[in-house]
Amino acid sequence: MYRRVHAADLHLIDHSEPSAEDRLRWTAEAAGFQAALGYVDGELVGAVLGCPLPPDTLWWRDMTDVHDPGLVAEWDNRTFAICEAFVDPAHQRHRLGIRMVADLLGQRTEERVSLAVAESNTRVWHALQRLRFEHAGDLIPFPGWRPHRMLVRALPLSSSR
Ligand SMILES: CC(C)(COP(=O)(O)OP(=O)(O)OC[C@H]1O[C@@H](n2cnc3c(N)ncnc32)[C@H](O)[C@@H]1OP(=O)(O)O)[C@@H](O)C(=O)NCCC(=O)NCCS
Repeated sequence: MYRRVHAADLHLIDHSEPSAEDRLRWTAEAAGFQAALGYVDGELVGAVLGCPLPPDTLWWRDMTDVHDPGLVAEWDNRTFAICEAFVDPAHQRHRLGIRMVADLLGQRTEERVSLAVAESNTRVWHALQRLRFEHAGDLIPFPGWRPHRMLVRALPLSSSR
């Protein structure tokens, strides 16, 4: 499914070094890993995967254009990170993505959620701005990748902070 979702971008290093398989496995093996899965007629059509950030996380490493240095400090129970989010192209734009995110975050006790969006992924970036995610800074997750915008938002999602 990952390859179907990212078919147009698979030529980019972002999807091959490290391999998607390795990245998905690292996320699933992270302490506190949790996921929401989406099914249509019993068939898996989407997933949102994440984990809590430990105090010594590398999540914010080498971030540039840091708007507030306090944003990158981590302590137990501060931040839940969404590491992957995808919905099969045949089922996109039916509110599955937003529902999985809400289901997953609705079970979390952290103060805030963070995720990274490729700078060129403007549709998702604009959708997240509408959900009041804030731009904390930019970083390149792995050598050669596109720059990513690092976003944070207070939890619960129903809060207006
Ligand atoms: C991002 C993704 C997980 C969203 O899942 P989804 O089920 O399609 O999204 P939803 O139906 O819940 O839509 C949520 C909002 O996202 C925005 N959005 C999502 N896909 C969009 C698209 N192709 N074009 C325009 N807006 C889009 C819209 O604002 C949408 O709200 P709206 O339908 O009321 O306008 C899915 O589109 C996907 O897998 N995209 C490719 C992978 C990716 O970019 N992952 C995110 C990395 S952070």
